[in-house]
Amino acid sequence: MKLIKKILLAILIVLVAIQFIQPGKNNSNEILPTDISKQFSIPESVQAVLKTSCYDCHSNNTRYPWYSFIQPGAWWMASHIKNGKADLNFSEFGSYSTHKQQSKLKSIANTINDGSMPLSAYTIIHNTAKLSKENKALVIDWATKMKDSLSQKIKL
Ligand code: HEC
Repeated sequence: MKLIKKILLAILIVLVAIQFIQPGKNNSNEILPTDISKQFSIPESVQAVLKTSCYDCHSNNTRYPWYSFIQPGAWWMASHIKNGKADLNFSEFGSYSTHKQQSKLKSIANTINDGSMPLSAYTIIHNTAKLSKENKALVIDWATKMKDSLSQKIKL
């Protein structure tokens, strides 16, 4: 019994201690010239959905609710942001080649369509990021049309 108490106490101390080790924040207030909204005209409705459901992991600006500071969740979130941004960053979308932009737009439509994005680990907590049927259709339609319009650009 004594040993179990000691172990529990040790776990508690570690849990408290790691609260003080917070990962760096993904919080740039600057809107880069390469931001997707600076390079393309995106309907406001689409932009709003992307901001609510995707930008926390796919832009240089994450909104941090209070619970995102609780460890070890904050590390987990930081790793999602790092990996998400490496794959697709709307703040730097304009710096991608046209070919890469098209392939990302196709993946956006595909991942929304098959439900793999936004990550379910995220929508469980961020309820408002869940996409309604209408919003899914809205973004998929936009991504597909934008991808096609970029093909016109390549042909010219
Ligand atoms: C909680 C963080 C998070 C949110 C929110 C999120 N993603 Fe992701 N996304 C990731 C991570 C992490 C990856 C890297 C691959 C993986 O681990 O599944 C990824 C990968 C992707 C990819 C693959 C890129 C490629 O190279 O093909 C696309 C496309 C994508 N996300 C689109 C979206 C869209 C669209 C939304 C909003 C509707 C969204 N994501 C919301 C974390 C997130």
